[in-house]
Amino acid sequence: MNGPDKLELIGIGKSYARGGKRHPVLDDISLRVADGEFVTLLGPSGSGKSTLFRLIGGVERPDAGRILIDGAETTGERGHISYMPQQASLFPWMSVAGNIASALTTAGIERRRAAALAAEWLGRIGLADVADEYPQVLSGGMQQRVSFLRALLMPRGVMCLDEPFAALDALTRAEMQAWLLRLWEEERRSVLFVTHSIEEALTLSDRIYVLSKAPATVLREIAVPFDRPRRADVWKEPAFVALKEEVLALLQRGGAGDGV
Ligand SMILES: Nc1ncnc2c1ncn2[C@@H]1O[C@H](COP(=O)(O)OP(=O)(O)OP(=O)(O)O)[C@@H](O)[C@H]1O
Ligand SMILES: [Mg+2]
Repeated sequence: MNGPDKLELIGIGKSYARGGKRHPVLDDISLRVADGEFVTLLGPSGSGKSTLFRLIGGVERPDAGRILIDGAETTGERGHISYMPQQASLFPWMSVAGNIASALTTAGIERRRAAALAAEWLGRIGLADVADEYPQVLSGGMQQRVSFLRALLMPRGVMCLDEPFAALDALTRAEMQAWLLRLWEEERRSVLFVTHSIEEALTLSDRIYVLSKAPATVLREIAVPFDRPRRADVWKEPAFVALKEEVLALLQRGGAGDGV
């Protein structure tokens, strides 16, 4: 293990009222992300992954359970994590560069330096051309990349990324994965990541939690055994293919849903 837990969820439960009835979404979810660890949640569509992220971000409160960051309870509190929501949420009144720079100034970086850094980072993800545009004129995938960059540059201890690459074409997605992998291996942030791609999960993660369909429980915790730094073509290894099939079978048996 890498060290003490950065993030810990203990017995999280959540339900929503719909049509006069309570619908349980999360049922006694306990999980942890160690310092510098990359952890992924895999689970069917509607199993409550984004709900879990909203709870961790303090946007909503759980009905049961506790959330700890660095060992201190933060249940219901905002401002402790950097968070990329599933739907890119950029400030529509700010340019793309302004959106990135604002994440940096929020983090205490001086304005001029934030502007310079924003320009540099936008160049690195191939979006220098649209720096002065407003987010609304960007494609969904471009907005996703800007949103991803905002989360990345927010210097908080835990980074929660909700399907950050889902709207990208296959080539851009592979590029962004390789880029995230390199960057993460240099910086070792604590990451909680959501994806529907088993391959993406196996390529990036140290551990994976497989969730059942709603009300979600943890079906299994999987330690991903491949060496670091991880090769981008690790998917060619027989052990990778075997593990992928195992996870798929697990989701088919236990998580039978429509999204994975
Ligand atoms: N504010 C809300 N009010 C009522 N129901 C909600 C609310 N938010 C989420 N839900 C319900 O909770 C369940 C889980 O939704 P959630 O978005 O967390 O799933 P998910 O695992 O992220 O799915 P996907 O993989 O499709 O993104 C769904 O049935 C959804 O309709
Ligand atoms: Mg979701």
